[in-house]
Amino acid sequence: MSLPAPLTELLEYVDFNQRSLFISAAAIAFNPTFWNIVARKEYRTRFMTKAFGSAQRGCYFLAATIFSLGLVRDFLYERALRDQPTHPALETDNVKYASYVLLALGNLLVISSTWQLGITGTFLGDYFGILMDKMVTGFPFNITSAPMYYGSTMSFLGSALLYGKPAGILLTLHVLLVYIVAIQYENPFTSGIYAKREKERAKAAGFEEKKEL
Ligand SMILES: *[C@@H]1O[C@H](CO)[C@@H](O)[C@H](O)[C@H]1NC(C)=O
Repeated sequence: MSLPAPLTELLEYVDFNQRSLFISAAAIAFNPTFWNIVARKEYRTRFMTKAFGSAQRGCYFLAATIFSLGLVRDFLYERALRDQPTHPALETDNVKYASYVLLALGNLLVISSTWQLGITGTFLGDYFGILMDKMVTGFPFNITSAPMYYGSTMSFLGSALLYGKPAGILLTLHVLLVYIVAIQYENPFTSGIYAKREKERAKAAGFEEKKEL
């Protein structure tokens, strides 16, 4: 099997002998794996709600943990990039401008979606039984259904281009893959949580109607 030319070219500038590359890749895959395991366990057993005395506090603690893990992941990514060769074709002004645009748009998507959803809405509150009243449809959710994931991916690519590192582009592809898998795994589950709420609401409304008769 032969790889497409740009990918071969890219891989020639990736130093696979650097352990930091694999540590970064592992951290990228670890984070969504971690929060999905913890959140589903919370949904099934309420272990964090019990430990922290309330769903709100449990969710805030999980949010702080996920946020910190994100900082560690970003640190390991930057360290991995530092250990990697730079591609001369990426050291141009245009690539620099493109990287600034990607970083700005990526951060805009992440920050605006956090703003729209709030802390519990962003950090898996639905698994704690803290549901949004209704679906958020305003910006950035009118552009993409997963602004957090695509914004984060854009920031990874922006950093890769800013430092001119093909290894960063490769790690960004890994990020995208991990997020696509995460979306496939998370969306049906959260839809199920909300479908259950709607059913309960409908049942309660039916009960109200009967009472009025
Ligand atoms: C999304 O919403 C923003 C703010 O309300 C608006 O400016 C933008 O045009 C909308 N985009 C699309 C694609 O609808």
